[in-house]
Amino acid sequence: MSGTFYLTTPIYYVNALPHLGHAYTTIAADTMARYHRLAGEDVWLLTGTDEHGDRIAQIAAAAGVDPQAYADRISAEFRQTWDRLGLRYDDYIRTTEPRHTQVVQAILQKLWDAGEIYLGKYGGHYCFGCERFYTEKEIVDGKCPDHLTVLTWIEEENYFFKMSKYQGWLIDYVNQHPDFIRPERYRNEILGFLRDPLQDLSISRPRTRLEWGIPLPFDDKYVTYVWFDALINYVSALGGPGDPRFEKFWPVVQHLIGKDILKQHAVYWPCMLKAAGIPLYQHLNVHAYWTVEGHKMSKSLGNVIEPLAFAAEYGSVGNDAFRYFVLREMTFGLDSDFAKGAFVTRLNADLANDLGNLVSRATTLIANFAVGAGAPGPTTPDEATVVRAAEEARRLLGEAMGEFAFQRGLAAIWEFVGAANRYVDATQPWALARKAAERPRLDRVLLTLADSVRYLGIVLDPFVPDAAARIRAAVGPTSTPRLAEATVGALDRLPAVQKLSGLFPRVGDSKSERETRNAMAAMEKVTGADEPPRIKIDEFSRVELRVAEVVAAEAVPKSKKLLKLTVSLGSEQRTIVAGIAQHYAPADLVGKKVVVVANLEPATLMGVPSQGMVLAGSTDGDGALAVLTLDRDLPPGARVR
Ligand code: MSP
Repeated sequence: MSGTFYLTTPIYYVNALPHLGHAYTTIAADTMARYHRLAGEDVWLLTGTDEHGDRIAQIAAAAGVDPQAYADRISAEFRQTWDRLGLRYDDYIRTTEPRHTQVVQAILQKLWDAGEIYLGKYGGHYCFGCERFYTEKEIVDGKCPDHLTVLTWIEEENYFFKMSKYQGWLIDYVNQHPDFIRPERYRNEILGFLRDPLQDLSISRPRTRLEWGIPLPFDDKYVTYVWFDALINYVSALGGPGDPRFEKFWPVVQHLIGKDILKQHAVYWPCMLKAAGIPLYQHLNVHAYWTVEGHKMSKSLGNVIEPLAFAAEYGSVGNDAFRYFVLREMTFGLDSDFAKGAFVTRLNADLANDLGNLVSRATTLIANFAVGAGAPGPTTPDEATVVRAAEEARRLLGEAMGEFAFQRGLAAIWEFVGAANRYVDATQPWALARKAAERPRLDRVLLTLADSVRYLGIVLDPFVPDAAARIRAAVGPTSTPRLAEATVGALDRLPAVQKLSGLFPRVGDSKSERETRNAMAAMEKVTGADEPPRIKIDEFSRVELRVAEVVAAEAVPKSKKLLKLTVSLGSEQRTIVAGIAQHYAPADLVGKKVVVVANLEPATLMGVPSQGMVLAGSTDGDGALAVLTLDRDLPPGARVR
């Protein structure tokens, strides 16, 4: 696919620091831009800051600084946040830049000359927080419905844009272009709004009341209303009509916004463009709102999620984990809740388990068992299933991304991850490795696994770019990833592969859970790895196995799996925590002689220190488990070899 793609985010007000809401929009935009780049398109992503208006003037005055200095500081904070989150943009516009004010003034002059603007009188209930007048219908007990503060009656002469005359035209346009505003619920909302008469739009503020804005080119006693100024950023950043960059990217422009600024983008903006003789945008993509742990995010509730601090809690995978979560969790267009528990669950289940384990299993198997040279055996229905899953995931991903449905795109990729994990389970390469005659079959399996991981290193690039880059560093491709190369089944030679484990480490919410998991994982590595490497006898002899007699046994509080055993090794007694509570009652074990690893590093499991490990056998399928006991009697402490 080739073509051009131009996407914009809202330009953020510099009256607050970046939070989860701003971050979501910018992450979504960055993901979409990366996807189109991956598809080989010429992409331009614009973001920036909205710096004029009452709100900024007021907050700067309250801070005792000049509004420009205030805007400089917060604008830089936004920029830095995006940079540190690893978000890329091609341009960062600020509405206080001359390149912007020039284009705004040129458009105003054009509309004035064309008779699209007139001087009129206006009186109304004004909210300084919202920077707008409220109609009688909207007011709640004389107060602003948003800020719940008392409104001020203001009467003044202002300039008006003749927006009302575009009402019929706009209704027709929206009706004739079903995906102009999407998802559909927002299109319906706008059509509903347009059923009432559309008013002309006041586009100026007298300088006696507000100095902080762009002066009207035809009357410098006024500054431009901040929304009229702000919307034009999408055009001014490209240099305005006539600029080669504008001519290249404007025809394909798409906007991405939150539902809070729907009316300005779906009503004011198309009317402004129409009046100025500039073609309309292609699509307005509207997402909904995040709540935090079920509540509206607000400073007063103290629940504002600060994206950098949040991501930093998860170390080097924090940026990827944060973006994965917001993209996967929010159904585009619907409200969603940001809950830490859900975040940790997704991180552990989707990223650490499903994806991380697949990459680790596949790369470890290849690194351990690949010998090269021989031709791989023929493909079987198992490979065909994986190939089909890869094709299907790419098809669904393409469809989803065309509609900004990030959650569906990710679900499709994870269907493939599941298929690849099932392929490992079904083909059991570690078992094939034990039989020389199975070498060609093993080579086929390893090749398919390398291909599958390579595929993921490409399709995951827009969503988890850091992890995708690590996957590509381990498996390839080494050149710039391209969506066209995201196929499984065409690779005919095993590439050089590096082991890649711990792509996303699991996290727990408490220290004891984390310790338990680490200790269990370490034990599983020793005991239950499904692809055990060959070891030499001297390596085995480093494991000190001894007979131990269980002296006492009890359940570990709050744990379903763990038993705390006191065992005698003859000369000493030890505490050993064993994950066998679902198979043995404590009383069954007392008096039994078992085999333990006596020189295991001590570990703490659910707060109980454990000095060794009890050996047990188990099956994968039905989960049966049996502790190793002795066939004949031996004294506690006897060495097992
Ligand atoms: N300056 C205007 C936009 C002008 S565009 C020409 C503005 N700025 S803002 O700083 O308030 O940013 C609003 C945008 O931030 C929303 O449209 C949305 O993209 C994002 N969000 C702010 N809070 C949000 C949530 N709680 N949830 C999701 N996104 C939200 O409005």
